[in-house]
Amino acid sequence: MYPFSFIGLGAPYQRRDHADPPRETPPEYVLLFIYVICDIIDAIKMSLVLFLIIHTVVNNLNAAEEKLGSAFKSQDVNDEIAIQSAIKFNGGGHINHTLFWENLAPKSSGGGEKPTGELLKEIEKTWGSLDKFIEKFNTQTAAVQGSGWGWLGYNKEFKRLEIATTSNQDPLQATTGLVPLLGIDVWEHAYYLQYKNVRPDYLKAVWEVVNWKTVADRFNKSR
Ligand SMILES: [Fe+2]
Repeated sequence: MYPFSFIGLGAPYQRRDHADPPRETPPEYVLLFIYVICDIIDAIKMSLVLFLIIHTVVNNLNAAEEKLGSAFKSQDVNDEIAIQSAIKFNGGGHINHTLFWENLAPKSSGGGEKPTGELLKEIEKTWGSLDKFIEKFNTQTAAVQGSGWGWLGYNKEFKRLEIATTSNQDPLQATTGLVPLLGIDVWEHAYYLQYKNVRPDYLKAVWEVVNWKTVADRFNKSR
């Protein structure tokens, strides 16, 4: 059951015409803000805001893919080109938020537990320590102009970890080639209820709910 099915909203990741199987968002991720970032009232409001945003981007992506299919069929190259920005924005919103949920967990499910093993070794090799990595990540991500995302990515060509940022809903891999390991949403809708416009405070707190196990899994698969 989805948190907002009682008001007629279905699963946010149901996609009609895509080859991927339909995705489901575990309610515990939708409500994870209860644990650290927000109090209970803010958590409910925030979950609803994010749920509606995701519902919208998935619907828009489905519509854009339908239009693209029609444009292919009619061999209308102008239409094919015109649809690209909608696919990038809404497809990016879908990819990024899917990663975001997987990257976060309540403290009771291991959120905030520090990384270990190969991932920690690689972070220490690259930045000296986990704390220094977080400091650099937060500085670069806080500096994103307008809306965007901060990333820890893996550069397969040079076999190294990198911090990156993207604008709007640009997905990391499609726009930079880096494999996304950890993505942090810095659109204001991710933090304004609790932190108003103070993005650095949100970035300081978000590490309390980062699920490093999923980051490590992605790191191991990407090498
Ligand atoms: Fe977002």
